[in-house]
Amino acid sequence: MKRFVIALDQGTTSSRAVLVDHDGTVVDSVQRTYHQIYPKPGWVEHNPQEILYSQLGSLTELVSRHHLSESNVTAIGIDNQRETTIVWDPSTGEPIANAIVWQCRRTASMVEELCGDPKVAQAIRDKTGLLPDAYFSASKIKWLLDNVPGARERAEAGELLFGTVDTWLLWVLSGGMVHATDMTNASRTMLYNIHECRWDQDLLDLFGIPACMMPEVLPSAHVFGETSYPGIPSGIPIAGIAGDQQSALFGQCCFEPGEAKNTYGTGCFLLMNTGDQPVASKNNLVTTIAAAPPEAAKTQYALEGSVFVAGALIQWLRDELGIVRSAEDTEYLARSVPDTGGVYIVPAFTGLGAPYWNPDARGLICGLTRGTTPAHIARAALEALAYQTCDLVRAMEADAERRIVTLDVDGGASRNGFLMQFQADVLRARIHRPSNIETTSMGAAYLAGLTTGFWDDTDEVRSLRKGGDVFVPTMPEGNAERLLEGWARAVQRAM
Ligand code: G3P
Repeated sequence: MKRFVIALDQGTTSSRAVLVDHDGTVVDSVQRTYHQIYPKPGWVEHNPQEILYSQLGSLTELVSRHHLSESNVTAIGIDNQRETTIVWDPSTGEPIANAIVWQCRRTASMVEELCGDPKVAQAIRDKTGLLPDAYFSASKIKWLLDNVPGARERAEAGELLFGTVDTWLLWVLSGGMVHATDMTNASRTMLYNIHECRWDQDLLDLFGIPACMMPEVLPSAHVFGETSYPGIPSGIPIAGIAGDQQSALFGQCCFEPGEAKNTYGTGCFLLMNTGDQPVASKNNLVTTIAAAPPEAAKTQYALEGSVFVAGALIQWLRDELGIVRSAEDTEYLARSVPDTGGVYIVPAFTGLGAPYWNPDARGLICGLTRGTTPAHIARAALEALAYQTCDLVRAMEADAERRIVTLDVDGGASRNGFLMQFQADVLRARIHRPSNIETTSMGAAYLAGLTTGFWDDTDEVRSLRKGGDVFVPTMPEGNAERLLEGWARAVQRAM
């Protein structure tokens, strides 16, 4: 009988169930979108029940399409949007409020107040590897406890549970039996000591969060529990969990120190494996826990840098400026002109992320002339994605004290051949785009499959990766340098 593993890929805008066979081939996938809720400017919420039903709906459809059961599904892996915060009552299974999404800025002033003291900020950096920010879960939990009537008392009485989205899904799928998360997700809460691998009592106290509501933290490659939910085959081990960016790093088979991947999604997430060494950044990157295979003896770490606006810039060209009909149009438009004619776009719509970390920066388009056309603007937008990635890579190389010779890429915009070639040109590195860019779900599938012996080891998993495209620099180095100098000047003007 043919056997499979299933990855549940719970992302910011959709939930997917992905069926993977022993050759590492994606046999089928089902995707369900759900609502984004914007109650006020800067606030972003999801309905946890909607997350759940979109995820379970995609899973049950996959199960019925392929007649799946506990006998032909070896394991399930979960990867998820990180940091997003859910608090629920385990006696009813009801969340006490909507999930506060990682993008939500409602707690920015709270973080400034609580972490403004440089000593506190440094302690947070030292313990968690993170820069104090509303992005991470800690202040979101505090907000829920402070603002939902009765929540703090109930949490202190042990009547409420906290979880990131993986924890919520695991708790429901296991029939309320397992309240746990994995180390990669824990490392994004700003409450987890990434060196001692435990919740940090001082940080829990700083944010007023009762320890009893925190999930148990387990390695990413681990049997967390078994499925026990009506309509879903029972007894399937849930055997791998990772935050989606760490899952993509694993799915790209970046198992060795120095291997790095960049995901071109709404934003960009660049992660480099640093092995068992947590590297402290001097360039506004964060240190985070990487997903480790079952055979790893020690905790594995990664350096991470993110830019807030990448694919979102292309959406803006499409939806707000109306100069392209689809994201794909940018490729032929960009190729229709020899260069941008000196135009640069700095997409600092919500400030600039790493390595600048300037929340007050704002976007700009500069270098306009009477001859500027939509093609120049489209090309400048794609180039901006590559320049931002370049800045991240250079910061990462400086922190890790090693060069990135090959960058593995994935995410929707990595399909754009113009962007990939330009990326290779300005980065002066080899860009490898795998034939299967579903690396996020592949990471969760690999973790679950390795934990349960579906695959033997990481060597076998690596051998499953077939083909892909490689882009190498073809632009003369001097031209690339001149373009990057122009970008640096444009960034200065945006700040
Ligand atoms: O840190 C946020 C990140 O995990 C979200 O990823 O792919 O759901 O946008 P994505």
